Amino acid sequence: MYSSARAYSPVASAPADAVSDAALDAAFLGPLAENAELLENLVVGALRDHVYWRRNFHPHDAAFISAGARYSPEYQTLVARTEHVLRRLAADLKDSAPWFSPRYIGHMASDLLIPGVVARFLALLYNPNNVSLDAGGPMLRAELEVGSQLARMVGYATNLDAPIRAWGHLTSGGTIANVEAIWRLRAVRLLPLAVARAVQALNIAVPTNSAPGHFLANATDWKLANMSTSDALALRRIVYEYTAQQGGSTAVAELHKAVESFRVENQGMADFLAETDISAPVVVAPYSAHYSWSKAMKLLGLGGKHLIGVDVDDHMRMSPTALRECLSSLAERQTPVIATIGVLGTTEFGTFDPINEIVAERAKRALNGQAFGVHVDAAWGGYLATLFRNPDGSMRPRDSLRSEYRYFPTSPVYEAFAALAETDSITIDPHKLGFIPYPAGAFVARDRRISALLSEAAPYVFDKADATFTLDEVRDEDLGRYIIEGSKPGSSAASVYAVHEVFPLHAAGFGTLLRRTILASEWLHDQLLVLAAEIADRATLIIPFEPDCNVVCLAVNPLGNRKRVVMNRFMRALFDTMRIRPDAPLQLLEFVGSYTSISAERLKPAVRNSVAARLGLASGELDSNGDGIFLLRHTLMNPWLLAGDPSPLEMYVRFLREQVETLLVEGPDDLPSGAGGS
Ligand SMILES: Cc1ncc(COP(=O)(O)O)c(C=O)c1O
Repeated sequence: MYSSARAYSPVASAPADAVSDAALDAAFLGPLAENAELLENLVVGALRDHVYWRRNFHPHDAAFISAGARYSPEYQTLVARTEHVLRRLAADLKDSAPWFSPRYIGHMASDLLIPGVVARFLALLYNPNNVSLDAGGPMLRAELEVGSQLARMVGYATNLDAPIRAWGHLTSGGTIANVEAIWRLRAVRLLPLAVARAVQALNIAVPTNSAPGHFLANATDWKLANMSTSDALALRRIVYEYTAQQGGSTAVAELHKAVESFRVENQGMADFLAETDISAPVVVAPYSAHYSWSKAMKLLGLGGKHLIGVDVDDHMRMSPTALRECLSSLAERQTPVIATIGVLGTTEFGTFDPINEIVAERAKRALNGQAFGVHVDAAWGGYLATLFRNPDGSMRPRDSLRSEYRYFPTSPVYEAFAALAETDSITIDPHKLGFIPYPAGAFVARDRRISALLSEAAPYVFDKADATFTLDEVRDEDLGRYIIEGSKPGSSAASVYAVHEVFPLHAAGFGTLLRRTILASEWLHDQLLVLAAEIADRATLIIPFEPDCNVVCLAVNPLGNRKRVVMNRFMRALFDTMRIRPDAPLQLLEFVGSYTSISAERLKPAVRNSVAARLGLASGELDSNGDGIFLLRHTLMNPWLLAGDPSPLEMYVRFLREQVETLLVEGPDDLPSGAGGS
C-alpha cells in the first residue's frame, strides 16, 4: 500500500540550490552538439545500468537468445531491416525544425535539458505506465512529487498539515490539462445541486436549525450553483454525516447513490439542466485564450457558445473592466460561471492576464452570491514563476527582481504572479518553458479534494465504528481513475522529475535558465526600436504589444501604404525568408521564425484602431473581416541568443533589416512609390 512517507524525495546529497549561469554550459547538447560526449556517456551509462538490472533479476536463468543466434541469416536479415528503417527515419527527421539552434526563434520549442533527455531514455527502457502504482511503480511517485513541486512553485500549499493541500499530475500537454480544469470545476460547482436533489428525493430532513439544513431549505438553484469549492464540499459532507447519524450505513449508502446519480457527470448536461432553474453554465476567458478552451467546451458538452469572451486591453491582457461587465451581465441573467480563465502567457504574444484582478473580483462577487472557479492557463508562462521564488519558497520582492532586468517584471506582471496562490488550479507545460521532451503537460489543483470528485471508483468508504467517511481522498496509487488519461508514460515523469531535481524551481535554480530568455527578449525589444528609428523614412516597424516575457511580435508597413492587404503581402514576403519549406534544404535558411495575426474579432475597436493608426493604415482597415494583420512572432527560448560576438540575435536583427530593405525595393509590386525607393 502506498504511504506518503515513502513519497519520492530529493537525493539527500544533491545540492538544494544554485545553478550558476556558467553551469548552463552543461545543461544542453548544444547548437553544435558540443556536449555530445557528455550525453553519449550518460545515455550509454543508462543503457548499461538497465542491462545489469535485467541480468541481475534472475542471473541463472537460461539465455533465450543464444550467442550463436546472432550469426543466423534470419537474425542478420532482421538487423539489416531494422537498421535500414532507422536510417530512413533518421533521414526523414532531418526535415524537422532545428529547435536546438539559436537561429530558431519561431514556436514554443528549443533545445532539451540533458537530465530530461537521459531520464526519459533511462525510464523508457523500463516502460513504466503511470496509470497506477502497480504499473508505474516509482515513476508514479515521481509524477506526484512533480505535481507537488509545481504546486509549491506557484504558491499552493503541499504540507500534510495544511488545511487545503494541493495535488497535481502530468498530462499529455496543455490541452488536456485545460480540459481537466473545466471537467473538475464543473463537477464542484454543480455538486450542491445534486446534493439538494438527493436530499429532496430521499426526504432527508436536515434540521433547519443547522446551517446546512437552513441553507438547503431556502436555497434556490442559483444559490446552490454559487457556492465556493470549500462550501460545496462541506455541504455534502455535513449532509452525509447527518444522514449517517440518523440512519447509519444503509441510509448513507442510499444517499451517496442518489447524489452520484443526480450529478451532472451521470445525468449529462441536458437532463441535468432540465431539472434546474439555472441556465446553461458558462466559462469566461479572454479573447486571447488558446483554442484548447473552445475544444474543452465542445468535448465536455458545455457548448462552444458558452465560452464567453472577454475583451483584452491595449497590452493584450484581459481587461478588468470588461471582466466586471461580463460577470455582472451573467449574474443578471442568473447564468452560473464554472470558471474564469486567466492566461499567463498568451500563445501569440506571451502577455499575462491580471490574475490579481480576477481573484479580487471573485472575492468581491462571492459576497454578493456569485461564485466561480479561477483557473490559470500558464501552459507557456508557468515556469516563469521560478523567477519570483526564493529557494525557501517565499516570493521575491519586486525590487530584487527588477535589478536583474531592464523592464521585467512590470508591476502588473509581478502582481499577476503574486496572486497565483489564490487561484483554484493551473495548467503548466513542462514541454514548453520546462525544456523537457514531449509529452509533458501538468494540471495542478490548489485543493486536492476536487480531484477525488471525479473518481471512476467512488471514493467513499464508510467506517462503521465511528460513522465517518473517506469522501474526499485521492488514492494516488490509482491515478488513472481520477484523470482523463489512462495508460500514460512514466518516462515523462522521470524526465520532469530529473530536471526539477537538477534545476530546483526557484530563481537561483531553474530561474538561471529562464533569466537568459527574458534578457534576450529585452535586448531584441530594444534593438527593434533602434531598427524602427533607422528605417522610419521608408517603413513603419512596430511592436504591437509590449512583451510581458519572452515572446516578441512585430509588424512592418511600407511608408505611405494605407491598405491592410498590401501590408500583409509585404509581411508574408518577409516571413517567407524565414519559413521552413518542404521543398528546400533547411540550411538555406538563415533564421527560422513564426507568424501570428491580430484579427478584428478578437480586439475591441479602440485597441485595433490604435494598432492600425500606429502602422499608418487607414482607419477601418482592421474592421473588415479577413485575416487581420499578419505579424512576425519570435519566441526567445534558446539559452545562447546573446552569446558570442556577434550574438545570434545581433545577426538576426541585421538579417531582418536586410530583408526589410530588400523587400522595400524588390518586394510586392503594389507598394506605394514612397516606400523604400521605387
Ligand atoms: C496558452 C496555451 N494554452 C494551452 C496550449 C495547448 O498546449 P498543448 O499544445 O501542449 O496541448 C498552448 C499551446 O501552445 C498555449 O499556448
